[in-house]
Amino acid sequence: VHVSELQTPALVVDPVALDHNLAVMAAARPGARLRPHVKAHKTTALAARQAAAGHHGFTCATIREVEGMAAAGLGTDLLLANEVVDARRLGAVVAGGGRVTLAVDSDATVAAAAAGGVREVVIDVNVGLPRCGCDPADTGRLAERARALGLVVRGVMGYEGHLMLEQPRVDRRANTEACMALLQQAHGQVGGEVVSGGGTGTYDINTWVTELQAGSYVLMDSAYGALDLPFRQALFLEATVISVGSGGWAVADCGLKALGMDHGNPSIDGATVWFCSDEHITFSCDPLPPVGARVRITPAHVDPTVAYHDRMHLLTADGEHVAETWAVDLRGW
Ligand SMILES: Cc1ncc(COP(=O)(O)O)c(C=O)c1O
Repeated sequence: VHVSELQTPALVVDPVALDHNLAVMAAARPGARLRPHVKAHKTTALAARQAAAGHHGFTCATIREVEGMAAAGLGTDLLLANEVVDARRLGAVVAGGGRVTLAVDSDATVAAAAAGGVREVVIDVNVGLPRCGCDPADTGRLAERARALGLVVRGVMGYEGHLMLEQPRVDRRANTEACMALLQQAHGQVGGEVVSGGGTGTYDINTWVTELQAGSYVLMDSAYGALDLPFRQALFLEATVISVGSGGWAVADCGLKALGMDHGNPSIDGATVWFCSDEHITFSCDPLPPVGARVRITPAHVDPTVAYHDRMHLLTADGEHVAETWAVDLRGW
């Protein structure tokens, strides 16, 4: 299938950029030192590429992601880096032969893990992002409680998400070091082998974790593209120009219902994006493209963009044809 035959809007993946990203990360964080976060792509076919690059443990954000990864045969070591109060579906994955480790940050989530049939946990530590994670001072007590309920405590996790896009890099580094000092302290209280954290923005800065939870690196977006990272934009949204305004703008058939917008407007090479509405993107460039022309849009935030789509198309190296179509099969909850 030629790209021009795809119904738009359609997610397309540049295979050269994808392979570059896989190779750069595998060199920086080989094997188990990377636990790729599947929430960035929600696609088991892409997770299989990450496994082929040497990373066999994965990070998940939802129960559905855990189930889908196990069903795809990628469930040898799944970390749900998120809290749940009903862990029974995770217990079912464990009973089916998958290995699931669950983040816990409270008595209630420890009890839910044990009651649901999960056997392994990590203590989730708040290292500064006002989201999940217990107070660093509470980690030893929580680990004891988990062990008393028969759970294996594999270690700690702490995600410094508030620092991922911090500029300049020297500040990102100093603040990551301070966050990871908290995580190290917690690890001293908890024990175990695992110290999990980090993301694309700290992939070469966070040397304190035993495993990095990066996700966006593999497809990338314009927010991360603005940083000093060696990863290339691999994911684009292919759209079609449907109208050209006499006032000097053009409109393509892709809007905020096809794009995660929480990091701002997407971008188009050589054009200025004016705004997105539900099903439209209005932009200007010189010369304006004709009605029917294709435009390639770079999303500002990869994770929520992918979550809007049923599939993504891996292109041939020349960008002309569809080589493979992958189901975005980890969507939903
Ligand atoms: C718990 C957790 N770990 C790691 C990440 C890193 O993801 P990324 O590499 O896309 O920044 C995220 C993203 O939000 C996350 O929520």
